Amino acid sequence: MTKEAMTVTPWEVKGIVDYQKLIKEFGTQPLSEDLIKSIEKKAGRSHHFLRRKIFFSHRDLDLLLQEFAAGKEFALYTGRGPSGKTHLGHMIPWFFCKYLQDAFDAHFYFQITDDEKFMYQPSLSLEETNSLAYDNALDLIALGFNPKKTHIIIDTEYGKTMYKLAIQIAKKITASQAKAVFGFNDTTNIGMYFWPSMQAVPCILPSVLQKKSIRALIPAAIDQDPFWRVARDVVPKLGFPKPAAFHNIFLPSLLGPQGKMSTSEGQHATIFTTDTPEIVAQKIKKYAFSGGKDTLKEHREKGGNPDIDMSYRWLTFFEEDDKKLKDIYENYKSGSLLSGELKQILIDKLNIFLTDHQKKREKAKKDLDKFLLKD
Ligand code: TYM
Repeated sequence: MTKEAMTVTPWEVKGIVDYQKLIKEFGTQPLSEDLIKSIEKKAGRSHHFLRRKIFFSHRDLDLLLQEFAAGKEFALYTGRGPSGKTHLGHMIPWFFCKYLQDAFDAHFYFQITDDEKFMYQPSLSLEETNSLAYDNALDLIALGFNPKKTHIIIDTEYGKTMYKLAIQIAKKITASQAKAVFGFNDTTNIGMYFWPSMQAVPCILPSVLQKKSIRALIPAAIDQDPFWRVARDVVPKLGFPKPAAFHNIFLPSLLGPQGKMSTSEGQHATIFTTDTPEIVAQKIKKYAFSGGKDTLKEHREKGGNPDIDMSYRWLTFFEEDDKKLKDIYENYKSGSLLSGELKQILIDKLNIFLTDHQKKREKAKKDLDKFLLKD
């Protein structure tokens, strides 16, 4: 594989991602130990995404927690662009939203952007993105969110409310700003120029619906940050609080450390929430890049390299137990754990989660109406 330069935009992630560099380039704040402690204290338990800095950067999270301590509620906001089936990378911010909703008893707004993906993807019809929106919503509901406090927005189904707010935001964003922030040019369709105002709407929706000032906290991978830069510039001009952002790193591609897990990187090596145990095993055995040595003898003698091994890297996201993870790291490095055995640990871990998730996903079909916001 050739080494590509790093690119991180909402639509493309390439190369080895240097997260410290992104903090500087994007002008965000690194997540401090003090902030981790204050979240854990409120939650009454730790989360491995915090301990391992899978959530690593933020904007105004400190301010939001201070306001919360002083008695002000906030709302959680994240989303999904339904261009295909849900894969495990998409769910990283959602797992964390579940922890945060349980900890802070916050309302949670989840935007599914069937309009965005229709406008962005030349090959997708609106019927397709709308039907995928309903399909993807099941993955969120299956994670066990509180139906009384979780509100799913499918953009084209909540258009009347969204549109009135989006045009107020759109009026304050110039084409040159959109070009500079999102890389749009003269061949970009005009729907996409309007689109960032739709992604900003849920930043103000909690305040509008609850008729009081409520700051949004947005857990999402760092690729979505350009949207928050624009939203944070515009929404105070309309009298709403700037949203706070909480950024996660990417679940890497199984194929190697460059880019992120993404369907466009290769369907075959992407693990979807609907994959059977056999397919999960097949994909990991065939595609997960290994840091093991070429021969059994050499591996036993010299040990493997867990830092470049994708099965190990994935376990940092999915194995919650620090002690187990440490043992795996050391046993692989010493050569006592083989590459095939490491892959099997990941396969088992994912299949336990997915088998249960798939049952809950089926059940979620009858609960959809409890979650959907409709005009
Ligand atoms: P989308 O569908 O590209 O991605 C959904 C969410 O998944 C995150 N993500 C990942 N996180 C970890 N590892 C990965 N490999 C990985 N790939 C994707 C994304 O950052 C995102 O949080 N325009 C948005 C939809 C949207 C949205 C939002 C997302 C609307 N409002 C608010 C986040 C927050 C989109 O197409 O996301």
